[in-house]
Amino acid sequence: MLPTALFTLLLSFPIHSFASSSPSSFGIVENADLLGSIRSSTSDLVDEEDFDFEFERDDFEAPDSALLKRAGSGPQRDFQVQQPPVVPSGKRCVHTLIEYDFANSYGNPAILDYVPPKDCGKVGSWASVVLNLTVSVNGTQYDRLGLIYLDSVEIWRTSTSEPTTSGVYWNTYKDVSKFIPLFSKPGTLLFDEGNIYNDQYTGIYHTTLTATFYEPTYEFPQPLLADLILPLSTGSTTGGAVFSTPPSGSTNITIPPNTITMYAEILASGNSNEEFWYMNSPNEVLDYYPPGYLTQAQSPYREVQLLVDGRLAGVAYPWPVIYTGGVILSWWRPMASYGAYDAPSYLVDLTPFVPLLTDSKSHNFTLNVVGQGPDFTTEQNWFVDGALYVQTGNNKRRTTGKITSYKVPQYIDPKIAVGSNADNSTVWGTTEAERFIEIEAELIAGDGEKVEVVWRQDLSFKNKQVYKNTAYYENVVQTSEGTSTSTHNGKVTLSDTFSFPISIWSNYTGTPTSSGLYELPGAVNHSYVRTLLPPPILAGGMKTEIDTTQSATGSLFVDSGGVIRKATGNNEEKFSYIDGKGNTYHRDVVVQNNTVVSDHQAGSLAHYGEVIQQRSFGAVPAEGVFGGIEFTGKRSGLRVKRNRGGLSLVTSPVGEGMVNKFPGVLAKLDDGNK
Ligand SMILES: *[C@@H]1O[C@H](CO)[C@@H](O)[C@H](O)[C@H]1NC(C)=O
Ligand SMILES: *[C@@H]1O[C@H](CO)[C@@H](O)[C@H](O)[C@H]1NC(C)=O
Ligand SMILES: *[C@@H]1O[C@H](CO)[C@@H](O)[C@H](O)[C@H]1NC(C)=O
Ligand SMILES: *[C@@H]1O[C@H](CO)[C@@H](O)[C@H](O)[C@H]1NC(C)=O
Ligand SMILES: *[C@@H]1O[C@H](CO)[C@@H](O)[C@H](O)[C@H]1NC(C)=O
Ligand SMILES: *[C@@H]1O[C@H](CO)[C@@H](O)[C@H](O)[C@H]1NC(C)=O
Ligand SMILES: *[C@@H]1O[C@H](CO)[C@@H](O)[C@H](O)[C@H]1NC(C)=O
Ligand SMILES: *[C@@H]1O[C@H](CO)[C@@H](O)[C@H](O)[C@H]1NC(C)=O
Repeated sequence: MLPTALFTLLLSFPIHSFASSSPSSFGIVENADLLGSIRSSTSDLVDEEDFDFEFERDDFEAPDSALLKRAGSGPQRDFQVQQPPVVPSGKRCVHTLIEYDFANSYGNPAILDYVPPKDCGKVGSWASVVLNLTVSVNGTQYDRLGLIYLDSVEIWRTSTSEPTTSGVYWNTYKDVSKFIPLFSKPGTLLFDEGNIYNDQYTGIYHTTLTATFYEPTYEFPQPLLADLILPLSTGSTTGGAVFSTPPSGSTNITIPPNTITMYAEILASGNSNEEFWYMNSPNEVLDYYPPGYLTQAQSPYREVQLLVDGRLAGVAYPWPVIYTGGVILSWWRPMASYGAYDAPSYLVDLTPFVPLLTDSKSHNFTLNVVGQGPDFTTEQNWFVDGALYVQTGNNKRRTTGKITSYKVPQYIDPKIAVGSNADNSTVWGTTEAERFIEIEAELIAGDGEKVEVVWRQDLSFKNKQVYKNTAYYENVVQTSEGTSTSTHNGKVTLSDTFSFPISIWSNYTGTPTSSGLYELPGAVNHSYVRTLLPPPILAGGMKTEIDTTQSATGSLFVDSGGVIRKATGNNEEKFSYIDGKGNTYHRDVVVQNNTVVSDHQAGSLAHYGEVIQQRSFGAVPAEGVFGGIEFTGKRSGLRVKRNRGGLSLVTSPVGEGMVNKFPGVLAKLDDGNK
């Protein structure tokens, strides 16, 4: 992932010539000016010949034919299981917002002057807005993080699928109706996806972002929305506006004096030494290995914090998003890990702080991610930002009141225990934490109405890690769960009950096989179980219950040079969605050796969803398909480098700084594989 994708695997294939079926320069498109003009366009790296392709923009059926044409023969269709958006059945208008080729795109985002469309009812009267993202890529490339902003508010955090030889494409969507207040006025739309394009990284992400605006209907009127949405970000409109922590990120915000409720939404992704934060070692585990051997530390405990004028207002336990190159990349072919295309967000009720913020002065909002004490920092880095949703009263007078009770420890030092067997060939560490926050406040709105607010979070975290084979083997079992609730005059306005268990292991020691290749196996079970009632001003506050589990096994097979020659991957996902409007969606997908062997859908939304037909995506990758990954360090003839608490292989991308970063370390440990 960005900026230095140290932790995910890179598929490296022979460099393809793009000459015959050129991915044309796709930065500016004919009808993008419907909604304004693209300010910054694609990189000059791709030539514009052979542009013979057009999307059918009003075709809601299948993107396949156009994309097949674009991606060449036999592209793989990747997907992430998600519920179809719930939208009205009346008039809809589709607009292309951005078409862009992310080639050398670090610091070179796609930027559009957004102008609200006038062809789908009165501007801003829409009942729903859904974004639709279609990406195709061919060649060698990492998975990359994609952040989409409207007026510096991040509205969608996605990531890319790593390509295969014959190309991959995917089509994903997000209901962004809660951001209708932003879509209702002219603004800056910015899509930041840092990618590298050179002789080695030949994958260009050909990206199309469309928006569908839905007119309200009698059955599906416009939902309640915020009066104001403000960025919890750096505020940049020329580049990504995300904070990179540590250090913490702060912004000054002034809110209207007649604000009556206010909520924060937070997005957070671990990157680089924090990408596999749930596998980061307690600092005490580092003592069992030579200095510098394990570099991912500060324990696996991560708490995303939101502070208002330096006072902690709420926290989030993040869901571990695993990107498509993560750990054993063949787990995620063609079905991505839950959240890879749409990272979940977290909500905090800031209403208790409203009386302190309505003085027409600017206040300091801070986002931070904390780990193990005594300094509570993390490794580098986390990408964190969010939005403030503000509701104002009809009366213009200032909202007053006070926080009546504040029971919030600023930090929780997780309880850590480590141990080993007699010869230290097995080392383990456990990390546990309980988090309790309770803030009560009394508000008096401008019209005299009194509101008693109680915001409470009760979360718990447990992580057990076992290291063997000089930490080439790591096994992690983590539970992270809790409930956050807010009541206003006793009525529940926000409630979030979640459980995010993950159980994961991999062994990068390398088991010799009869074919002469070395097998690196691993497995994961990962569940996202969440019942979320968002506040009413987030597009009506529809309750959703999502319960999904992915169970994957698989192996990479590398040659004695450490080059991946083959990979197997099985993954089964069971997905269930129920919402407050009575809609249901269930899906059960089985992938064996990178091929979808069954895909069943049921529920009231099933007919809107895609079904991946029983179809081969290339079966078991043949020799040479997964070419070119080189592991650093020498070990039993295998060039494998083990320098972090996480499980991914270190690749040797030129210029990404990992090759032999710690030369000699492995030699010292050669006798450790007992
Ligand atoms: C999403 O966009 C793709 C490509 O632009 C298109 O083929 C597909 O029909 C769209 N899907 C929806 C649901 O709008
Ligand atoms: C993608 O790569 C495959 C295999 O080399 C090739 O057949 C296909 O034409 C390529 N597609 C594009 C769009 O370059
Ligand atoms: C916030 O305001 C303070 C005081 O005016 C100022 O020193 C600081 O630089 C501002 N911070 C940001 C991020 O704008
Ligand atoms: C904002 O709050 C953070 C966290 O308390 C603090 O580190 C920072 O110095 C504050 N910034 C300003 C401008 O007050
Ligand atoms: C195991 O590691 C611990 C922590 O570094 C050390 O104190 C102990 O001496 C080691 N034991 C052996 C047998 O190497
Ligand atoms: C890891 O793989 C090595 C090589 O095959 C094997 O000796 C070892 O037992 C494995 N470790 C575990 C914990 O399975
Ligand atoms: C996943 O769950 C299955 C079924 O309970 C179990 O057999 C398997 O060992 C689990 N895998 C991991 C990595 O925990
Ligand atoms: C997957 O491929 C491996 C290696 O070719 C084979 O041994 C295994 O039986 C296959 N598994 C399934 C479920 O098809």
